[in-house]
Amino acid sequence: MIELKGVTKRFKTVTAVDSVDLTIKKGELFGLLGPNGAGKTTIIRMLTTLALPSSGQIIISGYDVKRELTQVKAQIGVVPQHMNVDNELTVWENLELHGRLYKMPKGKRLGRIEELLEFIEMTDRAHDPCGILSGGMKRRLMMARALLHEPKILFLDEPTVGLDAHSRHKIWNLIRKMNEMDLTVLLTTHYIEEAEMLCHRVALIDQGKLVKMGTPDELKMQVGKIVVEQICNGEVTYQFFSGREAAAEYAANLKGKVIIREANLEDVFVKLTKRKVGE
Ligand SMILES: Nc1ncnc2c1ncn2[C@@H]1O[C@H](COP(=O)(O)OP(=O)(O)O)[C@@H](O)[C@H]1O
Ligand SMILES: [Mg+2]
Repeated sequence: MIELKGVTKRFKTVTAVDSVDLTIKKGELFGLLGPNGAGKTTIIRMLTTLALPSSGQIIISGYDVKRELTQVKAQIGVVPQHMNVDNELTVWENLELHGRLYKMPKGKRLGRIEELLEFIEMTDRAHDPCGILSGGMKRRLMMARALLHEPKILFLDEPTVGLDAHSRHKIWNLIRKMNEMDLTVLLTTHYIEEAEMLCHRVALIDQGKLVKMGTPDELKMQVGKIVVEQICNGEVTYQFFSGREAAAEYAANLKGKVIIREANLEDVFVKLTKRKVGE
């Protein structure tokens, strides 16, 4: 379990994370959804012991992140936002290096590397230097590396940013599979569909604050399941309804271009913050 209590992170003039309270249950696949600059990476950095909160408390599997660093580190695996595989080393060597840093015994290390290469479908790339891999492959390698020491919780910061649709789906499948194997997963994203399709629960984050939290369905129910979008003189306005009938009735009297569609998490975000996630 992951618990944040009143967690705040201030940089000189910026409050990057502002009094965030959050509990993530064991086995959950949880998403932090918010635009660039919302504070997602700062939250991940604090959860993974790379930055200290200015105030508040973080507990991971019963250990305090501030005081019980070693215990916390053994519990967690991290896939950071920026690619940080060593391009000079081969796929295998990157994993081997990580295993040694975590002081994994040789037999265990080798077995685990083989197992994980199979899991990310890169056994045939084991001895290629990382410099020649595609972005998607590097991401998958970063996931295998994060899992090597058998953590209970995996943090993924924008796991599919910059990837093509095919590679993105591959990563999503791996994330789902890992979660089914009992791993608790916390990911950040600014992709609406990533949060919506993948996560059991989502927290909407804006300007360092937790705006709303719930399952994608719960969040959408709160604004209304159906949206009427009216495009008039280049301006778009949105109206939310709980059912299609009421939406159609309303739309019948509108001028300009009118679209009736199911609400998504972007709509929820716009309604609550007056901003888009993608901006
Ligand atoms: N080391 C830092 N020093 C100063 N400001 C920072 C630092 N790291 C992040 N910030 C600021 O904190 C805010 C949140 O950033 P970040 O957590 O990276 O957001 P996100 O990951 O959601 O895009 C931004 O305004 C960013 O400029
Ligand atoms: Mg970020």
